[in-house]
Amino acid sequence: MKIALIQFKPTFLDLDKNLERAAGILESISADIAVFPELFLSGYTFADETQVRNGAFPFEEGPQRAPLLRISREKSMAVCGGYAEIDGRDLYNSAFFMANGRLVGNYRKVHLFNREKLYFKPGDKGFEVFDYQGATMGMMICFDWLFPEAARSLALKGAQVILHPANLVLPYCQQAMFARALENRVFIITVNRVGTETAEAESNTFTGQSQIVSPKGGYLVRMSKDQEQVENVSIDP
Ligand code: ACM
Repeated sequence: MKIALIQFKPTFLDLDKNLERAAGILESISADIAVFPELFLSGYTFADETQVRNGAFPFEEGPQRAPLLRISREKSMAVCGGYAEIDGRDLYNSAFFMANGRLVGNYRKVHLFNREKLYFKPGDKGFEVFDYQGATMGMMICFDWLFPEAARSLALKGAQVILHPANLVLPYCQQAMFARALENRVFIITVNRVGTETAEAESNTFTGQSQIVSPKGGYLVRMSKDQEQVENVSIDP
């Protein structure tokens, strides 16, 4: 199974531009699964709830839906990435998995980090797995890494591959995933963003170093700390 890790730097709240760039990258690569970071269409460092609402959409009506579903069908390439989801009045920090022109999975982040708690509701659907190309897949998002129960819950449900879109700011996750992968015997694909974003109350510098850790604790790839980058890595779940 060929995995494309797309270490990306979105332009804050410019959904159209981010989507166009993301689609351009997807058109230029071939993989079984392409993985983007958390909140890759909106950016991360919101100053207030209005900004989150400006960057959020219901999956069924979002601008990403038509182009990314089309690419997933035409290129037989599943696409996973994080987005700000709105459901009624509620906001979630979510990740989608689309394949063959349809939505296969949608995960709502359970463990919210820092100021995310001001805007987003914690995920209300738990940790679910789904099949793709004969392998059992699960998703978690960024700060879920700190809670061993997230990866464990997915592994106990049979996950062989965990997709992990992230906007990491602390320096620990990339090492911690060694243990998560080894103790659960899973591949963990962490795709982080790069760059710095500043809002009134907060400044975040994201730590890059997107990576795959194998069930034997091998780092199959480790990307740069501060550059956008695309890497293709084969795994055998
Ligand atoms: C994070 O969960 N984005 C740090």
